[in-house]
Amino acid sequence: MGSRVLIRNKSIVIAGIFLTIAFWLYGCKATEKVVTEKSGAELWSQQCSRCHNMPDPTAYQDDKWETVAMHMKVRANISDKEIKLIKEFLQSANGEE
Ligand code: HEC
Repeated sequence: MGSRVLIRNKSIVIAGIFLTIAFWLYGCKATEKVVTEKSGAELWSQQCSRCHNMPDPTAYQDDKWETVAMHMKVRANISDKEIKLIKEFLQSANGEE
């Protein structure tokens, strides 16, 4: 009886170790993603408040955001990739279909 309990405890410990490793690996991956890939909303709040108040997404329609994004990309020297994410966020948040 004693040994059965012992074996069961051992497998719980092993399962615990595997879970810990799994969470640890997953945790590292998740952190990396946050560091390397900021969302359009994050970039908008960081990049677009450097020179003036954060622009309201609902202030412009999709085609106007296209123009403003080009304008501010040049003004603020924002990368193609980042301005694309910001523009997509603004266009998705302005309430236009
Ligand atoms: C380097 C400073 C700077 C940054 C960073 C910046 N802007 Fe601007 N923004 C300006 C200036 C200066 C104006 C005034 C118009 C002009 O002369 O370009 C302006 C004007 C605007 C306007 C008014 C419409 C227009 O085109 O004149 C909007 C909307 C705008 N910015 C959105 C944004 C967004 C969105 C971002 C982030 C991607 C951003 N801005 C980042 C400097 C900046």
